[in-house]
Amino acid sequence: MSKMRLGVNIDHVAVLREARRVNDPDIMQALYVACSNGADQITIHLREDRRHIQDIDAKNIMRASSVPVNLECAIDRDILNIVCNLKPHRATLVPEKREEVTTEGGLDVFTYEERISYAIEQLHDSIIPVSLFVDPTIEAMNQSKELGAEMVELHTGTFANLFNMLNSSLPYSNHSVKEFELPRYELSDRLEKSLENIKNSAKHANSIGLEVAAGHGLNYHNVHEMMKIEEIIELNIGQSIIARSVFTGLAEAIKEMRRLTAK
Ligand code: PXP
Repeated sequence: MSKMRLGVNIDHVAVLREARRVNDPDIMQALYVACSNGADQITIHLREDRRHIQDIDAKNIMRASSVPVNLECAIDRDILNIVCNLKPHRATLVPEKREEVTTEGGLDVFTYEERISYAIEQLHDSIIPVSLFVDPTIEAMNQSKELGAEMVELHTGTFANLFNMLNSSLPYSNHSVKEFELPRYELSDRLEKSLENIKNSAKHANSIGLEVAAGHGLNYHNVHEMMKIEEIIELNIGQSIIARSVFTGLAEAIKEMRRLTAK
C-alpha cells in the first residue's frame, strides 16, 4: 500500500525557544522524537530574520536527521548560498516578507520568474532538487514546470482558513480572518471552490510531470480532505502538530497525524 509522506515542520519548537532566547525546548530533541515516531521528512524554514531556526540548527539537523530534510527558503542570495552549502535533500522556495506572521501566499512565479529560475539553476548546480510553494492554479503549475522545478507544494492556506472559519470558533476569536467573515453558505461555496482548485492543480501538475505536495494550515480536522486527492504524495505540517504536542507530547501528536494520513 502506498503511503502519504508526512513532513513534520519543527520550526515552532524553535519559535518557543526563541521567545525566551534560551536553549529550551531543544530542537534536536524534537528532531529525534519526530524521526522515531513516524515523520518521513523533516521540514524547516531558515528565514532571513532568523526568527526561529538558526544557522546552527539547520547545520545540526542536516548532520543528525535520519530522514530527508526539506529546507524552505526565500529567493535571497545569502540564504541560497547557505542552502547550497548545507545540501538538504530538497529545497522549497517560498515567498518571504518580514512583516508577515507566517508564509501568507504562494510564490509569485510570474513576477519573479528570472530570480526563481536563477535560484533553481544554482540549487541544481549543487544537486539539490527544488520544490516551489505556489498557489493552486493551473497557470502556476505550468510556470513551475517551465522554470525547471521537480515538485510543487500547493499552498493550502486559503482552504484551511475557510475550513476553520466554517467549522471552528475562529470567527469568534481575536484571530478571525477578516476577508472570510461571510455568511455560512458563502463560506461553504468558497471552501468547495478552494478544494476544486487544489484538486485540479494537483491533477494537472502530476500530468505534466511534477511531484505534488501540499501544506500550510493543515490540521487534525481538515487533513482528510487532502487524503482524498490521489496526486498529492506529501504533506508538510507544523503548527497543528506542535500545538497538539503541548498537551499530548510530540510523539503522540505525530502518531495521531500519521494515523490520519495513512493511505
Ligand atoms: N509548507 C510550507 C512551504 C510552509 O512555509 C509552512 C509554514 O512554515 C508549512 C508547510 C507548514 O505550515 P503549518 O505550520 O501551517 O502547518
